Amino acid sequence: MLTAYDASFAGLIDVIGIEMVLVGDSLGMVLLGYDSTIPVTMEEMLHHCRAVSRGVKRALVVGDMPFMSYQVSESEAITNAGRFLKEAGCDAVKLEGGTEMCDKVKAIVRAGISVMGHIGLTPQTASQLGGYKVQGKDADSARKLLQSARDLEEAGAFSIVLECIPAELSEAITRTVSIPTIGIGAGKHCDGQVLVTHDMVGMFEKFIPSFVKQYANLASQIKKAVATYHEEVKNGSFPAEKHSFNMQLDVQSLLDEE
Ligand code: KIV
Repeated sequence: MLTAYDASFAGLIDVIGIEMVLVGDSLGMVLLGYDSTIPVTMEEMLHHCRAVSRGVKRALVVGDMPFMSYQVSESEAITNAGRFLKEAGCDAVKLEGGTEMCDKVKAIVRAGISVMGHIGLTPQTASQLGGYKVQGKDADSARKLLQSARDLEEAGAFSIVLECIPAELSEAITRTVSIPTIGIGAGKHCDGQVLVTHDMVGMFEKFIPSFVKQYANLASQIKKAVATYHEEVKNGSFPAEKHSFNMQLDVQSLLDEE
């Protein structure tokens, strides 16, 4: 799985055969310039989900439910989850939280909507977790995460994202539950992996988590291209003949008409 926030990235990812495209609320930080995912709204998510759905032909599109779109009540959770499918063409939704969120997961699944869980480092509640830190490092918190994974499966989640937890814990969770686990900073024993695309192609420079492998460095290529364009416009070498339309118009007579 990889993230996408627009039709062009989604299309590039889809054509390679990546099985799932996540429209993550990470778009708040990566695209919209927020300091966290907390301010992201339903309308922002739906706008980007619609674009991604238009760009994807075969992958499963998962829409990330933003902060406070599912926590308040089961009925709000169902209504908002439904909007991802009805208004934005998503195939499923993802929400953060384990055991404590299972009533919402059950309700959404009962309404006929597939739900992906997300436990470990859950960015929407990072302040309660002591920041963006590895979770499940001691026996007590590891036990809670294992139980959360079991409860999410029991609640009907079709898959669970495991974010920033020790590799041995994600291996234990993956062996325990029968639904697929998708890891991010959770080692190689998960059933699948997810990364924020802008991180893995080197387009988001503000912060690079240690678990990210950068497969390209597009930010430096983009900056180089922009600098060259800037220079060429200033020195007149762009646009060249081949970038211009030349129709042999008699402009002099046009001017003379005036
Ligand atoms: O918002 C997001 O992109 C995510 C992934 C990091 C799993 O939740």
